[in-house]
Amino acid sequence: MSLVEKDQKYIWHPFTQMKTAEPALPIVKGEGTLLIDDMGNSYIDAISSWWVNLHGHSHPYIAEKVYEQMQKLEHVVFAGFTHQPAVDLCEKLSKHMPDNQAKFFFSGDGSSAVEIALKMSVQYWRNKGENKTRFVALDGAYHGETFGAMSAGARSIFSAPFSDLLFESTHIPFPKDEQAAMQSLKTEIAKGDVAAFIFEPLVQGAAGMRMYKPETLNKLLQICKEAGVLCIADEVMTGFGRTGTTFAVNQIEAKPDFICMSKGLSGGTLPLSLTSCTQAIYEAFLGDDIQKAFLHGHSFTGNPVGCAAALASLDLLEKKECQEAIKNITSSHKTFAKKLEALEIINEIRQTGTILALELKADSSGYASSIRQKLYTDFLNQGVLLRPLGNVIYILPPYCIQEKELKKVYKVIQDKLTELSQ
Ligand SMILES: Cc1ncc(COP(=O)(O)O)c(C=O)c1O
Repeated sequence: MSLVEKDQKYIWHPFTQMKTAEPALPIVKGEGTLLIDDMGNSYIDAISSWWVNLHGHSHPYIAEKVYEQMQKLEHVVFAGFTHQPAVDLCEKLSKHMPDNQAKFFFSGDGSSAVEIALKMSVQYWRNKGENKTRFVALDGAYHGETFGAMSAGARSIFSAPFSDLLFESTHIPFPKDEQAAMQSLKTEIAKGDVAAFIFEPLVQGAAGMRMYKPETLNKLLQICKEAGVLCIADEVMTGFGRTGTTFAVNQIEAKPDFICMSKGLSGGTLPLSLTSCTQAIYEAFLGDDIQKAFLHGHSFTGNPVGCAAALASLDLLEKKECQEAIKNITSSHKTFAKKLEALEIINEIRQTGTILALELKADSSGYASSIRQKLYTDFLNQGVLLRPLGNVIYILPPYCIQEKELKKVYKVIQDKLTELSQ
């Protein structure tokens, strides 16, 4: 049996269980931005493998640091024990974060990082003797796939089968309409039961790379701060340079109470996530009463090998070359976007830092949009991995992407959009 046949026999892939799904493509090697299949064909990974990869695939420096750590300590229970990579990672990370972030709680994926922030928010209020359990989020929000994260997110085809089981949360208008979002946030907060406001800062990923201004985000956070409502910045997608700064919240003055990180945290090498919070949050869990403690912790919490990968990735991110690359990608996107403006098929072009989104005119939008699958296949056949979100084509590349690779990505998109505009 071939690899593909065995794959079809055993493996349940995400998003591809429809009867019409193409067989999964066997990838045997990754190098830089390239993914290479078993026939030797290469694909430019223009979406950083679901937004995780920062410095390219199988990066030798990260591989070396992971190997070194594997030989010293692969894992240890993180309740009651500690190790150098975890401590070094939090110390190094904190230099890039708003200065109110004091404590770090480890888990293994973005949904868990969010779940932990949600649970900590509710328990924070309980520990203070207040019953605040409702979350306010943005229209279109996506915060992950565990039940809490799904409940905080907007209702969609992804959450529909579970709708009866989700707890209620409130979704205020998307802040492109600043006044509507601010007014609605104030109205919800006035009801007195809001535990926290959770948001994807500046860019909503899964909703189709929808973007809003730092000034607007700042105003929303100020409203929460004045009312004592906790703020959770979900930086699972936006973190680690995607928006031009290491964290999107670095572009605003107001400071969130929690920051959720994953994906780029380990440079896309190993599953790892963090929920950071303020000292005030942490202190609300301290005391003699065990009931006040946060009695949760996943098996692979603080995995030393994941931390070693994250430390290595941060080393690379801090390098001048990488910061230059982020600036270059940002300005290349700007130039490319200008070339597309006049095309008939374009509905809207959006850009924040290294993320460029091209929203097309289409009969239907959203994940089930018919244009999506066709674009995906056409691009892949030309050696470029782009996974449109409904009628939105977006580029979110690893920072190591070479100029000629980026040009190729632009060319396949421009050719396609020109064809569709005729
Ligand atoms: C903003 C945001 N939060 C949370 C998640 C969930 O992360 P994970 O898939 O690692 O559970 C994602 C995933 O795409 C995301 O974009």
